Amino acid sequence: MCGIVGYSGSRQATVVILDALKKLEYRGYDSAGVAIVGDDMQVHKDKGEIAVMESTLPDFKGGVGVGHTRWATCGRPSKENAHPFVDCTGRIALVHNGILENYAEIKRKLITEGHRFTSETDTEVLVHLVEKYFHGDLRAALNEALKEVRGSYAIVMVQVGSDKVVATRKENPLVVGLGVDENFIASDVTALLDYTNKIMYVMDEEVVELDPHRVRIFDRDGEEVKRQPEIITWSAEDAQKGGFEHFMLKEIYEQPEAIHNTLLGNVNALESGEFMPNVDFGGIKILACGTSFHAAMVGKYVLEKVAKIPVTVELASEYRYATGAKECPLVILISQSGETADTLAAAREAGRRGCRTLAITNVVGSSITREVGETFYTRAGPEIGVAATKTYTAQLVALYLIAMRIAYAKKTMSTDHLREMRAALIALPQVVRRVLDNASEAEAAAEDLYQARDIFFLGRNINFPVMLEGALKLKEISYIHAEGYAAGELKHGPLALIDSRTPVVAAVIKDHTYDKMMSNVAEVQARDSPVLAIGTEGDQDLPNVVSRVILIPEVPAMFVPFPLSVVLQLLAYYTARRKGCSIDKPKNLAKSVTVE
Ligand code: AGP
Repeated sequence: MCGIVGYSGSRQATVVILDALKKLEYRGYDSAGVAIVGDDMQVHKDKGEIAVMESTLPDFKGGVGVGHTRWATCGRPSKENAHPFVDCTGRIALVHNGILENYAEIKRKLITEGHRFTSETDTEVLVHLVEKYFHGDLRAALNEALKEVRGSYAIVMVQVGSDKVVATRKENPLVVGLGVDENFIASDVTALLDYTNKIMYVMDEEVVELDPHRVRIFDRDGEEVKRQPEIITWSAEDAQKGGFEHFMLKEIYEQPEAIHNTLLGNVNALESGEFMPNVDFGGIKILACGTSFHAAMVGKYVLEKVAKIPVTVELASEYRYATGAKECPLVILISQSGETADTLAAAREAGRRGCRTLAITNVVGSSITREVGETFYTRAGPEIGVAATKTYTAQLVALYLIAMRIAYAKKTMSTDHLREMRAALIALPQVVRRVLDNASEAEAAAEDLYQARDIFFLGRNINFPVMLEGALKLKEISYIHAEGYAAGELKHGPLALIDSRTPVVAAVIKDHTYDKMMSNVAEVQARDSPVLAIGTEGDQDLPNVVSRVILIPEVPAMFVPFPLSVVLQLLAYYTARRKGCSIDKPKNLAKSVTVE
């Protein structure tokens, strides 16, 4: 996720673009840059937040330009990898938000054709492709270039000698802002609200051409589209949250996209081994903290079942004390921020012990990537809410992909079975969307929970760690004491705490744990506990047994953690909201925990 802006009009483009970019900084902040059309293309960029780039920005003059604030996905955060990129002639500048799957092969070809590259990014191939097809018409060149790329994108371009801004999108947002003697384009309306509230949304694969006096939109067949502008009544702050009340809710709703982006490219590389080429190891240890630790626990079930490899999971903060344990050949460290001090210390310790190390993180170039041998990047985009949501489901995707990669390479599963798993993975964004469509049920269920002092979350098998995560999410943002428990363990102690004032949230999924979970529900109901059951669509019995039920789409048992996690996130969110808690910034907690 990055923020992009384009402008053509009567003001100084630098001023407008900087201002608009700052409103988009929540979409990425590891490097930034602008390109302003003058006699030559005037480009300035730097690593760090927009203010860093701004502090050394020359006084560029011109009414046309593009800008970018980056959240790195391909190529570490650096000045060289910052956008905009210019072609070999220095006359075309381009910014991009998204992921190009086949950039490496295009880059190889362009280099043999004589194009000179200056960065590690996927984006740079776009500007050289456009250059290759440019014969005076930027829109035509863009159309030709797009025929060669696979992936997702929002692209904005400008060219020396022209007041036009040309843009397009696929699976990444882009909106046009209409002004008087000026027009704008940006990743979202937040960037534009200080200038205009007259907005036109750009649809997938449409191409936009704008100048100070006219905006034209073309469909994928090149036909001009007529579109009425909409008047936006949100405040700039609301717009930054995409109209959601909190970043956490927005990020919960971004999960279909986060999952899709993390799958992009990787799911097609399962057999070829473009990621994790060497799968020659006999055991895995996973180290992480908090939510990432729960993702690791889910990953253990998947890796052991699919890759048939023994997996141990340890809290990163405890790893240093396990001096007697036999070392594992591969240690996976999971940290969405890549900055968690305990996980960094564990990575160093694993390195000292001679283990091969692999990090799963959401932040390109974060500290953990410098402590390990290999990195798998999730592509959830920046997460602002302290409670991890979309980064967690993206971590799950990474672990499922790694398990399947090992299974393909070591043939630990039949090809048919792997094909089914692949299809289930690809269907996940749709499954999550269906859960989100039912969010009102979680909101209603929160009414039963928000006054409780203690709540138990019960599950079995792969859904046990999912319930641990559900409990963590609830306690973190609603301040209600919540405990996740393996349902079979309840009778070994905690049952003593169950009474009519202690609600139980139970995962009663239609799989091999169903009957036992039904017994556990009966067990707590016999102690008068109000039960919220999360079950499978089509289950006729469960709704007759419990006082409240939320049904999730039926998916293969191994994939239940995805829809189940999303329901639990919504439940935590609505419970905290009902209590009036500070959801995005819970007390005593920080987004990245940099102390041990
Ligand atoms: C998650 O909601 C929490 N804020 C917290 O448990 C977090 O997962 C933990 O601090 C680990 O963070 P990391 O993934 O950035 O390493």
